[in-house]
Amino acid sequence: MPGAIGMPYDGYRRRDTPPPDRELTQVGPGTPGGEYLRRFWQPVAFARDLGDRPRRVRILGEDLVVFRDRGGRTGLLHLHCAHRGTSLEFGIPVEQGIRCCYHGWIFDVDGRCLATPGEPPGSRLRERAWQGAYPTREFSGLVFAYLGPPEHRPAFPVYDSYAVPGHTLMPAASFEMPCNWLQVKDNSMDPVHTAFLHALSSGYQFTEAFGAVPEMDWRLTEAGMIYIATRRIGDLVWVRVCDYMPPNVHQFTREIEEARAPKAASRPVIIRWAVPNDDTHTTNFELAQVDPAWGLSAEEVARPGFGQSGDRPYAERQRHPADFDAQSSQRPIAVHALERLGSTDRGVVMLRRIVRDGIRAVARGQAPWGTHWREGQVIRTYTQDAVVELPRASTPEEDRRRLRATALEVIGLGDEAGTGAAGA
Ligand code: FES
Ligand SMILES: [Fe+2]
Repeated sequence: MPGAIGMPYDGYRRRDTPPPDRELTQVGPGTPGGEYLRRFWQPVAFARDLGDRPRRVRILGEDLVVFRDRGGRTGLLHLHCAHRGTSLEFGIPVEQGIRCCYHGWIFDVDGRCLATPGEPPGSRLRERAWQGAYPTREFSGLVFAYLGPPEHRPAFPVYDSYAVPGHTLMPAASFEMPCNWLQVKDNSMDPVHTAFLHALSSGYQFTEAFGAVPEMDWRLTEAGMIYIATRRIGDLVWVRVCDYMPPNVHQFTREIEEARAPKAASRPVIIRWAVPNDDTHTTNFELAQVDPAWGLSAEEVARPGFGQSGDRPYAERQRHPADFDAQSSQRPIAVHALERLGSTDRGVVMLRRIVRDGIRAVARGQAPWGTHWREGQVIRTYTQDAVVELPRASTPEEDRRRLRATALEVIGLGDEAGTGAAGA
């Protein structure tokens, strides 16, 4: 009923589902969102998964094969052989490139055809037979690729979180979500869910401290944006900061903070890319800063955190739902037109604005935010846990104001203008 603001038992009038926001959520070749996402380096596989066999992957709606040739180089090629289309997932990595199983053609990692062995001597067919290829780059056990226009390839971004004193950057988990990438990333700037989904509504999944509903603030940074979630734990204040770096990267602190004693900022972070396989499937790839004192094996570091992947029994996921369940059940592609956003969703709104601005910049022929780094430049981020002493103020309102002010001091943002208080 047009104009109605709701009435009891009105499901009959609310059955229509408008389409998703296509501009923001499409990832395929030639779509505005897809062309935007292609302007950034994206992880496509872990190096540990490239053995003697090629690996078939789907990235941004493209079917591809990633492999390591026997000379040690990684390659990312179109899946179907340029000869007659056989999938190169059945190809054989050779000293230089990969050989198609069907007629033995060999393609180098840059797509050049090196051999068409069944053709007569002197044949020049191979000069015309190129295989689609994308540049790759290995970093810390992850294979990244650039799927965009060659003339717009950006520098490889280097976040300051890649080097944390006393910690080792290690390849960590990857897990697939059966939903669009944007709702996966929305979650990264949604700190209030950490109190409800991970503590108050589904049982404590991390530490008890997560059960305190935080004061929230969001700020733009040079790298993207941050959320600041500040919790009162007795006479202590725990400040947790997480970064989002456009288009699809975020990093967060490990969920181990107990907030039982004051401590200076600590930064054992996890950095996570939400790489779209297609419009309704997303693979998360993680790097993690690991303290050697934790004594974790590479296999343990590679295990997804609690409830991040869909590998738990359905009944358990219903009783103790976690990130996988909350995000992927927002529909295969969350429908923004049906949302009722509140003050705690302001980070989500900011994140989507960054993405939309980037999509429109690319459509106008401009470079999107996040591609302007110089090669090797170290990019400042803020992710951290810090705990400070702060006696409770006399009123709840004053206490919340002091929490937010203290948080900004702790992370060195002083009283710069931000988005203000999150409200009640
Ligand atoms: S289809 Fe690949 S070599 Fe013929
Ligand atoms: Fe979460």
